Amino acid sequence: MLTPPEMTSASLLLWIVLGITLQLALWLGFGFWRHWGEYRALRAGLLPSEGGAGPQAEVFSGLTEPASATAWNGFRNFRVDHREIEDGTRSICSFYLVPEDRQPLPSFKPGQFLTFRLGIPKADGSGTEQVTRCYSLSDAPQSGHYRVSIKRAPSPPKSDHPPGRSSNFFHDHVQVGTTLQVRAPSGHFTLEPGSSPIVLIAGGIGITPMLSMLNWCQSQQPEREVWLFYGVRNSKETAFAAHLNAIAAANPNVHLRLCFSDPLPEDRLGKDFHHRGRVDVNLFRMELPLKPFHYYICGPTPMMETLVPALDDWGVPDAHIHFEAFGPASIKRRKPVAAVTENAIAVPVSDITVTFAKSGKQAPWSPQSGSLLEFAESQGIAIDSGCRAGGCGTCQTTIRSGEVAYRQAPDYDPEPGTCLMCVCTPKTNVTLEA
Ligand code: FES
Repeated sequence: MLTPPEMTSASLLLWIVLGITLQLALWLGFGFWRHWGEYRALRAGLLPSEGGAGPQAEVFSGLTEPASATAWNGFRNFRVDHREIEDGTRSICSFYLVPEDRQPLPSFKPGQFLTFRLGIPKADGSGTEQVTRCYSLSDAPQSGHYRVSIKRAPSPPKSDHPPGRSSNFFHDHVQVGTTLQVRAPSGHFTLEPGSSPIVLIAGGIGITPMLSMLNWCQSQQPEREVWLFYGVRNSKETAFAAHLNAIAAANPNVHLRLCFSDPLPEDRLGKDFHHRGRVDVNLFRMELPLKPFHYYICGPTPMMETLVPALDDWGVPDAHIHFEAFGPASIKRRKPVAAVTENAIAVPVSDITVTFAKSGKQAPWSPQSGSLLEFAESQGIAIDSGCRAGGCGTCQTTIRSGEVAYRQAPDYDPEPGTCLMCVCTPKTNVTLEA
């Protein structure tokens, strides 16, 4: 009869060692799996967030090479990883966005914007309504995340579709962990690579695309001469002040000029700010050396409408003046912009009739009427719009009859039988669905 072998003390010890080794391997494997996500986030430059202010902002601002990836179609889900207040009045907040699919992000050109589709609660409490809005990217391309910095509207919006409604929604409802629907970066107001010296002119929240350009230059072309004229009322309203001052202190090619129109009693000229008053051409005459600068401008409508013609009058070539076309600003150039591209069709000068079918309105259009969006608004027809630059698709409208022409190829590809009203004009008599 067979009997089980007797267990010696040596074999017992062997079994104990084997058991401990197995347990150790399981524990290590589980730990590795659990921290793999954190490790990948760290590699991407994203540290775990405490959900608010803190030193992470400087970590995020570290300039790294972006991952290579291609742009996506439609909307992609992003999670808010981090929020950061950027000014003394706490009215500007940066939102750091990471893709929920954790796949690489495409790079973008400094100056481009993101388009958001938001579900904003209706004022009467009867659910939400979909609103599309665009916000400039406020940093150079980074691996793993995008950043937008948004200013809260100063007073409660009065109409149903004011720009401030979506900005306030961001401040009040978009928290760490919120999911947002986002289109890929787009926009033509971009800083192109090159060696020409540049002047960045920002008014208020117009600092955001300028910061993207400045950070990009710091990262990719630190030898390039950059002047930044940043107009705000006082030190409390200056966003990213520490970051801007640090760059200017570290790089002799960067010249920062803070211009306060209404300084606080404690704001010291020459220390906290450089000029009392608004940014204007007289300031450029005093400050800038004689060089073929390219000027990039983004700010509130009055500033844009004053500065752009003033630069024209000063003799700056049209090709050296670049400005952001967000919002209702309608900048009148001394000379028409020669933006007709190779494949574009020239806009005729003869009068044309535009019919808005749903609104039941009809009116003659002329080149002075501007884009179809501007023309519709001048006729009292409300059209939902986002970027007003052909990048987001919000103003896409069906053409019932007739043809339209684009002055430049839009970033957004309109569906067949539709047009982007913000960047096209009628080529013939045209009837639109609006
Ligand atoms: S408003 Fe964005 S494409 Fe017209």
